[in-house]
Amino acid sequence: MQIDERGFALTTGSAEAAAHLQRAVHSFNHWDADLMAHLDAALAADGDCVMAHALKGLAMAGGRNRRFRPMIEESLARARAGMADASPRERGYVTALGHMAADRLTDAAATYEAILLDHPTDILAHRLVQQELFWIGEAGWMRDVAERAAPAWSETMPDYSLFLSVRAFGNEEALNYADAERFGRGGVEIDPTDAWGAHAVAHVLIMRGRIDDGIRWLEGLSGNWAGKNQIVHHLWWHLALFLLERGDHDRVLALYDSDIRNPDSPLVQAVPDAYIDIQNAAAMLLRLELRGVDVGDRWRALDSVAEARIGDPASPFTNAHAAMILAANGRFDKANDLVASMRDAAATDPGPLGIALRAAAIPASAPAIAHRRDDHDAVLAALLPARRQLWHMGGSHAQRDIFVQLLVDSARRLGRADLLSILLPEITDVGFADVPGRTLYRDAAALLN
Ligand SMILES: [Fe+2]
Repeated sequence: MQIDERGFALTTGSAEAAAHLQRAVHSFNHWDADLMAHLDAALAADGDCVMAHALKGLAMAGGRNRRFRPMIEESLARARAGMADASPRERGYVTALGHMAADRLTDAAATYEAILLDHPTDILAHRLVQQELFWIGEAGWMRDVAERAAPAWSETMPDYSLFLSVRAFGNEEALNYADAERFGRGGVEIDPTDAWGAHAVAHVLIMRGRIDDGIRWLEGLSGNWAGKNQIVHHLWWHLALFLLERGDHDRVLALYDSDIRNPDSPLVQAVPDAYIDIQNAAAMLLRLELRGVDVGDRWRALDSVAEARIGDPASPFTNAHAAMILAANGRFDKANDLVASMRDAAATDPGPLGIALRAAAIPASAPAIAHRRDDHDAVLAALLPARRQLWHMGGSHAQRDIFVQLLVDSARRLGRADLLSILLPEITDVGFADVPGRTLYRDAAALLN
């Protein structure tokens, strides 16, 4: 057994494996792109290292793609083989992996909570529980987990900046914007490379309509993101959200090509179908088009990664974006196949993924397709009854806003001032400041005057 730098027991006889594993945990917690290299090095030093197998499986499960399933199963089997000798904390992570492998996402979240009751400063558990709760839309739960642990932390502890960032994002999604901004800025002040703190504050600023602050914030930090994983594409996507509000469409398109979805970048080359990239790309292209911008042939380059989601329910929120892509490319048969495959998966899954599909992702996909056909009555028919349950498919308020934009756009095109008088105040209630001043919503608000 080894004791790691945070005082946690690591069940391995190899000091080398323990060193690589600690580096891997550091990479995971910091959104670094070299996570798998460190995990593989740990496993090369000790092929039975339980925690390395568990973290590898959890990282794969976090990729939300059925093609990773054989690797997740293998990691789970290898981790379980060494479980008897592992520490209670390590066994907790293996248990969580078992839940993740079976799509029992809330069970995984509850398992991380149990780890945090014993170890409230285990930042790995904080990162993992927030990730799982985020993708099932449990904003209040995210906030509560962080707040519950807060008394155990102090600013002299290692990982404190990471905790502040987790606490910031949990509070931001729970609409506690002032606290979220204070925590997020605090995390970044300690560690300017902290991508999650940068991200949490970017969310606060877009929700509150502080466009100039948002641009200054992200541009000022962007020099610190070397070596990060796909989170960087999402941070650039956030910058594009601010630029859209300024009407700087040329710069948004340039940013899209250089940093949001650049097929030549090493990250995209390594994982062309990363779920966050699909979401970023589709949601940005659609936002541009809803604002009257010609995006050229950019949809075409996304077609294959969208089609590959047919029959893969691992990420309902991604599938709703894949439907947008297939419809934008005129591939309505494939888009309908995707929705049919989501219905099949929902019919056999009583758990959180099934709920996410039934309550949100399927009702969000159909109007994404109908809007492309200019069938705005169908957009309204699908989205009006589902609109207040879209949180079930996870994603942030800022991300889910694209589906609200579709709904508002269709209502505006149909001249439905009655509906807009309901919808626009609801957008304010979600936490968006200055809705009548926002692009796209501005045109809808004008109908009410
Ligand atoms: Fe975000």
